[in-house]
Order: sequence, then C-alpha cells, then structure tokens
Amino acid sequence: MIVADDYESMSKRAGEIVIEEMKRKPDIVLGLATGSTPEGLYEELIKAYRQGQIDFSRLKTFNLDEYIGLPPAHSQSYWRFMFEKLFEQVNINYRNIHVPDGMTEDIDGFCKDYEEKIRGAGGIDLQILGIGVNGHIGFNEPGSPSGSRTKKVELTEETIRANSRFFESEDQVPRYAISMGQATIIETKKIILLASGKNKADAIAKAVEGPITEEVPASILQSHPDATVIVDREAGSKLKGRE
Ligand code: F6R
Repeated sequence: MIVADDYESMSKRAGEIVIEEMKRKPDIVLGLATGSTPEGLYEELIKAYRQGQIDFSRLKTFNLDEYIGLPPAHSQSYWRFMFEKLFEQVNINYRNIHVPDGMTEDIDGFCKDYEEKIRGAGGIDLQILGIGVNGHIGFNEPGSPSGSRTKKVELTEETIRANSRFFESEDQVPRYAISMGQATIIETKKIILLASGKNKADAIAKAVEGPITEEVPASILQSHPDATVIVDREAGSKLKGRE
C-alpha cells in the first residue's frame, strides 16, 4: 500500500514500477486499464519511451474491458482511448495489442478465445487496475462471482452514472461490456491498483481493510501474493491504518 501525495506522484510511483518491469522483461505481457486514473501513468511511460528508457516492440498487451456496441473508432471506445493515450505514441507492434471486441457477434466464443490468447501468451505478468466507486475492478460489478472469467457483464446504474461524464448524456452510455473476470485478474502475476480522488476513498477503504467479499470485487486482491495499491491522499483518506 503506497499513499502518494497527489495524482502526479501516484502516477510517477506506478510509472517507476512498470518501467522497471519492462526493462527486466522486454517481452512482458501487460494487462491494461482505461479510465481517468491510469492516464498519468501512460504519460510517464510515453516520457520514458521518448527518453529511450523503454521499448514496446516486443511486449504484448491485454485490456481489461470494452463496451459492447461501440466500434473501435467510436470516441468513447476503450480501443480508441488506448490508441490515443498510449499505443499511437509508442513503438508497440499492433499485432501484440488485445482489446475485447465490443462488436463481436459471438460474445461467448470471443471471451473463450481471449482467455486462450492470455494463456497462450504465458499469462499476464503485470496488471494495471483502476477501481470503481462501487469497488469494481474491470467491469466486475458488486456480486460478480469471484471465479468468473472473461464474460459479458451488465453495468450497474452507479457505473453508468460515473462513466456518463465521457458521453453527451447518461442514456448514451452502453449498458453492457465485455470484461476479464476476477479469476482472470487474480491469476496475473503482479498487480498495481491505482486510485485517485475523494470519491474513491470508500471503495479503497473497503477493498484494502474490509472483508474479502464479492460485494467489493477489489477486495479479492487481498488474496493476491503481489498486489500493490497506490493511491493519492484523498483516495487513501478513509484508511483506518493511516489515521
Ligand atoms: C477501465 C476499468 C474500470 C476503471 C474504473 C475507474 O478499464 O476497468 O474498472 O478502472 O471504472 O475508472 P476511472 O479511472 O475513470 O475512475
């Protein structure tokens, strides 16, 4: 558990860990998240790439999730987010990028194939996670079975409301997504969960100090042997251990 002063230092701390892992294993398999939280981390990686510290040409990436019904070119698709915030700015081989296909006609088949591709790549070495205000990781909403694998999920009203800030109105937010499951996430070898801002403080306190429960999907990380939670002061403000 690391409590950084602010968003910038949270992103820098995360950047240091990811950069070190990328140097150690140039063909690393990264699990990636979208959303506001990891943007600063991706900026750190781009900076390090431009300085010649890291190379993306041999690594593989698997994104956590994608909205169902949004084509990759849609302004709010997670594919587009990753492309703009990271992929187009580094020397990644596009054949090594994996983002769930929100337009697939065979969702179950796609999900099985995604899991096989992760296994075929040797598993995810380092997984980046954000956390929802309701404690979700990926789009595994409260109550989602902890043994679940990549699957179709229905977003909760809370998540739809939280994500509506990126859309013109709440009813434009897709209701369904494809998401790696908790079992997919817990099998990754190393995890960094990032959280920033007051609105994440409850979720962080429950995830880190509460019981392990499917009602708080992020709490399963307590059972992971190598999970680091990096928060800024506001997101860490309700941790009892920190009082
Ligand atoms: C995104 C994802 C989500 C987000 C979470 C927090 O790929 O899997 O779990 O990490 O909703 O989103 P932000 O960072 O926008 O607050």
